[in-house]
This record gives sequence, structure tokens and C-alpha cells, in this order.
Amino acid sequence: MNSSISRRLFIEGCAATLGLTLVGCSSGGSGGPLVAVAGENGSFVLSNVPEVGMNEAIPFQFSGGDADKKPGLIINSAMGLAAVNAVCTHSGCTVEWTNDVKQPLHCPCHNSNFTVGGEVISGPAKRPLPKFSVQKDGTNLVLTPA
Ligand code: FES
Repeated sequence: MNSSISRRLFIEGCAATLGLTLVGCSSGGSGGPLVAVAGENGSFVLSNVPEVGMNEAIPFQFSGGDADKKPGLIINSAMGLAAVNAVCTHSGCTVEWTNDVKQPLHCPCHNSNFTVGGEVISGPAKRPLPKFSVQKDGTNLVLTPA
């Protein structure tokens, strides 16, 4: 009898622990991906963006609009804050930040390179990355097609 109660209490305790673990994992804390939510006229809004250091980039994901679920990058350079859609215009791979001033945005699939403003430095990509101007609005960043 006592072992039956102990077993039940043990299982309930495990379930409670598992439940707390799952809640903790799904809380979307500060470690989750940044999401740019579609607004009006092709704009997007990012909330709770950490400070972007000079010559650094932070990845995010578009939500909604034409770029839904596509990757993006917020870039802080000598030209100020800007953002690009990080889908390579050659064949759709994700462009990466390199922190190399000569070729700051690089596509690992076929080695296209882009400027911080998304212009093509070297192909095979022929079209620039879609670029967004960035304005601060309180704690939010508003991305507007440039
Ligand atoms: S997909 Fe980027 S260079 Fe080919």
C-alpha cells in the first residue's frame, strides 16, 4: 500500500517537474529569435532589440508580408543602422555577416558578396538584397523598404 502511494507521488512529481520544464522552455525568453512583425506599407517592427555594436549584425526573422519566415539582418555600420532581407538573390541561400569590410555580407552557397547596403560586390548574384531603412521608435525598430 505504501509503495503504491509512493509510486503515485513520484509520478505526479515527475509530471509536475516536466510541466514546469516545458513552460520554461516555451517562455520565449531573451534567447529566442528576434521577429520582425509586418506593419503597414511593407514596413516591419522589431521589439526588444539588443544594442547592435558598431560593425556588427544581428539576425532576425520576418513575420508576415512578402518576406514571411525569411531571415534578415540588422546591421550597424558607419552608414548607421540598416536592415536587409538575407535571402540571396541568386538561388535563395541565407547570406551571412562576415565583419570583413571588403565583403561584409557573404553567401556560402556560391560565394556571392554584398555591401552593407545589399549591393552586389561579386556574383553569381546579379540583384541586390532588399534593403530597409531603420528608425528607432521607443524600444522598437521600424524597418521601412528603402
Ligand atoms: S545562392 Fe547565394 S550565391 Fe548562389
